[in-house]
Amino acid sequence: MTSLEKKQVPVEAKTQEPLVSLVDIGKAYGHVHALSGVTMSVYAGQVTCVLGDNGAGKSTLIKIMAGLHDYSAGEMHVSGELRHFGSPRESLAAGIATVYQDLALAPMMSVWRNFFLGNEVRRGPLRMLDIAEMKRIAGTELDKMGISIPDLDRPVGSLSGGQRQCVAIARAIYFGAKVIILDEPTAALGVKQSGVVLKYIVRAREAGLAVVFITHNPHHAYLVGDQFLILKLGEVSLAADREHVTLDRLTAEMAGGEELAELSHELRTMDQG
Ligand SMILES: Nc1ncnc2c1ncn2[C@@H]1O[C@H](COP(=O)(O)OP(=O)(O)OP(=O)(O)O)[C@@H](O)[C@H]1O
Ligand SMILES: [Mg+2]
Repeated sequence: MTSLEKKQVPVEAKTQEPLVSLVDIGKAYGHVHALSGVTMSVYAGQVTCVLGDNGAGKSTLIKIMAGLHDYSAGEMHVSGELRHFGSPRESLAAGIATVYQDLALAPMMSVWRNFFLGNEVRRGPLRMLDIAEMKRIAGTELDKMGISIPDLDRPVGSLSGGQRQCVAIARAIYFGAKVIILDEPTAALGVKQSGVVLKYIVRAREAGLAVVFITHNPHHAYLVGDQFLILKLGEVSLAADREHVTLDRLTAEMAGGEELAELSHELRTMDQG
């Protein structure tokens, strides 16, 4: 078994209460219906993959959970309570951490500094930054996740895209996130770096977090996912647990079998013309 192959989904996952549950969620930007009738639940210890083409509504969906946008229809329950987040801070306070593709990390600042950005450890009557302690904790936490960054004084900007994602994930876990949302963390990465990020997704799940993994890539999704949601033009076109869906089905559904056949026909006629 490779490290990415997953263990059996625990049966109790189905009976436990979801950490976040969206029921019939809708969101309109003026006349554009970015989402309608979207229902989805995310559970502790599970990776929920949200797939879909450009403009399908993936970012809109996570912005609702992240407190950047409010929804205009339906209900969102977080830990059993009906919520409308007014800001990202409220979402974070509810245990939801969001890692964006263009990370909220400061590239010129060191790794340890980024790890503690906004949550600095201070000591003494003058509330001086406790640099040694912050370096120690950042080192231990990254180690726990199996991330080897030999020099924590390096600016984050000098890390690879994959390593940066991992620092952001480790930070979210350390600061107590229960749900971690990753918006296309592997989109700009090569095969090897994507593998690194996928491993941390698995680590986060094993640490008991609920992971929401947004991606265009059904192969990446299938390597780590426990449940899958495909959005098309703002609506759910497929929702399935791992045991009820194959990689082929996900790929076909993502590619839009009919659209591909049509494209292939068009390309062939161009050739002849
Ligand atoms: N702030 C906004 N104002 C108006 N329309 C928006 C806004 N944000 C998104 N939209 C529209 O809502 C729809 C869904 O967009 P969204 O960004 O959620 O898609 P996505 O699945 O994340 O796409 P991508 O894969 O390109 O990131 C699109 O039609 C988009 O043009
Ligand atoms: Mg997007």
